[in-house]
Order: sequence, then structure tokens, then C-alpha cells
Amino acid sequence: MKLFDPTPDKDTIMYAKGLKMWFPLRRGITDIIKRRPRLYVHAVDGIDFKIQEGDVFGFAGESGCGKTTTGKAVIRLYDPTGGVVGYKPRKKLLEEWSSMGYEPPMDEHGYVDLAKIPRKYTRPLRKELQMIFQDPYGTLNPRFTIFEILEEPLLIHGIGETREEREDIVAKALEAVKLVPPEEFMYRYPHMLSGGQRQRVVIARAMILNPRFIVADEPVSMLDVSIRAEILELLLDLKRQFKLTYIFITHDLAVARYITNKIAIMYLGKIVELGETRRVLENPLHPYTKALIAAIPEPDPRNRLRLRDIPIKGEVPSAVFVPPGCRFHPRCVALDQNPQLKPSCTQKEPPLIEVEPNHYVACWLYAKK
Ligand SMILES: Nc1ncnc2c1ncn2[C@@H]1O[C@H](COP(=O)(O)OP(=O)(O)OP(=O)(O)O)[C@@H](O)[C@H]1O
Ligand code: SF4
Ligand SMILES: [Mg+2]
Repeated sequence: MKLFDPTPDKDTIMYAKGLKMWFPLRRGITDIIKRRPRLYVHAVDGIDFKIQEGDVFGFAGESGCGKTTTGKAVIRLYDPTGGVVGYKPRKKLLEEWSSMGYEPPMDEHGYVDLAKIPRKYTRPLRKELQMIFQDPYGTLNPRFTIFEILEEPLLIHGIGETREEREDIVAKALEAVKLVPPEEFMYRYPHMLSGGQRQRVVIARAMILNPRFIVADEPVSMLDVSIRAEILELLLDLKRQFKLTYIFITHDLAVARYITNKIAIMYLGKIVELGETRRVLENPLHPYTKALIAAIPEPDPRNRLRLRDIPIKGEVPSAVFVPPGCRFHPRCVALDQNPQLKPSCTQKEPPLIEVEPNHYVACWLYAKK
């Protein structure tokens, strides 16, 4: 049985090993008096993955499975609770850390562990690792002009000495996201833009520091269907032009199929299936992935009937009281069909097992193959 190995290879830009992000629940006074143990939301509960330079690496799964938390934890918008986030830094980042008097420890492969960078040294990371948020309405300050919104990161990072220089950089960023001519957009406020144009500004803000790794969190899900394709095209264009690597978070498997080349399916803080997107979506192996794919609306009524054969039971359990063993077992239809699996499924967490080349599944059904 070959298990997933997150050890980096030649083109790996980032890998995670046992990454955990738990959020403590607030305790009431009675909890403290009665000395009840502190409870945690196990948002990300020990995941391994490996991203190669140039990948569009998808994270998919139902609401609350930990996609956004993973994205924020790997670029240190959160401080991970545990695990390793190995990242191969550019020379510029190492030089900037060095000028701050910080020499990060490196592993034998030349990766720094982002999870362990002291908070006071995380600011330079923003020049390498950026995030595009889902909601173009919520993330742009309505009182700032587009120029001021895009100038802010430049001011924070001391880029562009004069206003003219900064205007020049902002204009180039607007051109890169095809808001042209830039002068037409620079001095407008966000409410003077369409949803698609705002999302372009959000993307320009992520691009302005010239990053190489972007976490795009549901970047098109709030947009009208008619403009989704052009924003996805823009992201692919930018990737080619600036040699970017993306983590692309989506709950929409059709979008994932279009834009990602690899995909990790998450369930309750764990990766349950991992592989090339096309393989995973055409030949899903985990009962959860099968159920997710079956839930995609199927316009053809004949197929709809067929898909009803793979139901999914019940609700997602709480991320505070995670079921023991395979955390999917209370909802797993395959378990009803294979009662002999029960002891493993309910007692032991399945690891990511390689079932075909580069296609991994965390399910005891595949343990002996
Ligand atoms: N700051 C936080 N404090 C406490 N719990 C949190 C916090 N952020 C997320 N969670 C919890 O962690 C779990 C994972 O949340 P997350 O936002 O990562 O899910 P998601 O997969 O991105 O979902 P969605 O598709 O709805 O965006 C959820 O149970 C959520 O309630
Ligand atoms: S390990 Fe068992 S419970 Fe979990 S998905 Fe596989 S068959 Fe279902
Ligand atoms: Mg989310």
C-alpha cells in the first residue's frame, strides 16, 4: 500500500505536511468554573499536499470543509496550529528577511517552513504570496478611489518613491487586468464599477506587489454567470504572463474542471481525494467525491435517474466533535454496502492511499489494492 508522500521534488513550490488549523471556542464562565476542557473547531485537521510551480491546484468540497482556512493558513493570514508548510522562497525574500536580521531555518531541500516564521517577519511574504477574496463588494473600501486602494500595498511595502511612480505602477496593474485605459478607472470609487470590473480591481490589488503564488478563494462565485468565463480567462492569462502558481478554491466542480490541473477534495478538515483534476472528476474513487459529482445538476433527465443511485446521507457533522475513524463514516453509503469494513471505518482514520499513479484516496475500500 503506497501512501501519499509530501516530500518536495524538483518543481515543488509548496508542500504541506500534517497542516492543522484549529480555532478555540470561547468558554463561558461556567465552563471555566467546572474546568471543562477547551473545545476547538477542527477547521483543517492534518492535511498533506504538494504544489508544483505553475499548478492551478484546486480545493473543493462542501461549505465549511476547510477550504478558505487552508488557503489562509498556508500564506500565513492565519497562524497554523501545527504541521509544516514548506515553501521555496525567492532570493528577494531571503534578502529582505536578511535585511531585517532574520535568517529562516531551511530544510535539507531548501524550503522554509512558513508555519514557523515569527509573526513580525511575515510582512515580506505578501510580496510572494497573495490572496484574492470571494466578494468584490466586501473587500474594496468604498471610501477609497481605485488608485488609493491599489496604492495602499505600495505604501505599506515602501514601493515607488513618488506619487508619479506609484501612479505608473497602478496604471500597469490596471492594464494587466484589462481595465483600460487605466485613467478611466483610477479615480473612480468602487460603487462606480460593475461587479466584473470590481473583481478585476481585487485581482489587480493581489498582483500589484508582483507575487508568484496566489490563493484565489471562489473568485467567480459572486459574479454573474455571463462574466465568470472572462475572469477565469484573465486569471489564466496572468498566470502565463507572470509565471504564477495558484491555489484555486471552489465548491463548483465545473469551474474546477475548467481551471485547475490538480484537485484536492476536502471533507471536514481532511483531504479525502487528491490527483489530476481530470482523473479525479472522471474516475472519482472516494464515496464522498462520487456523491459530490452525483449532486452536480444534470440537465439530461436520463442521467439524473442514474445519478440518484449514489445518494449522500444526512448533514455534515460538527467540526468540533469529529466522528472517530473515517470522519465520513456516518454518511457513507459504501459502508452500508460493505458491512465488513465497519471496524476499520469507525475506528481508524484512513491515510491517503495511491490507487492509480498520482491519484490518492483516503478510504479503507482501497487499502488492500
Ligand atoms: N475564524 C474562525 N473562527 C472559528 N471558526 C472558524 C473560523 N473560520 C472558519 N471557522 C470554521 O472552520 C470550518 C471551516 O471553515 P472554512 O471557512 O475554511 O470553510 P470553507 O470550506 O471555506 O466553506 P465555504 O465554502 O462556506 O466558504 C467551519 O466549521 C467554520 O465555521
Ligand atoms: S473509509 Fe469507510 S466510511 Fe470512510 S469513505 Fe471509505 S468506506 Fe466510507
Ligand atoms: Mg470559504
